[in-house]
Amino acid sequence: MQGKVEWIGAVSLAAGAAAVGYLAYKTLLSKDKSCKAMVNLHIQKDNPKVVHAFDMEDLGDKAVYCRCWRSKKFPLCDGAHTKHNEETGDNVGPLIIKRKEA
Ligand code: FES
Repeated sequence: MQGKVEWIGAVSLAAGAAAVGYLAYKTLLSKDKSCKAMVNLHIQKDNPKVVHAFDMEDLGDKAVYCRCWRSKKFPLCDGAHTKHNEETGDNVGPLIIKRKEA
């Protein structure tokens, strides 16, 4: 009888350890997935790398570039980051380059 009680205790311990391991694995796996999520959802998806280059002389006094990848005027910001931030809880905003006033 005592052997049966020990066996039940061992199974319970193993089941508890398995449950804790599974929960830890799920937690780590879900964090890993969020790190691998794509930033670019629709811009030039047939291009292996999206790159834009501008000459400093052509920027004018101020240029506002999108960093959320949701702008319909990409690479320029059109304010779409506001909706993205509201929907996702993210906090991204544009890159603003402006000429120093002399
Ligand atoms: S629209 Fe993307 S940063 Fe403003």
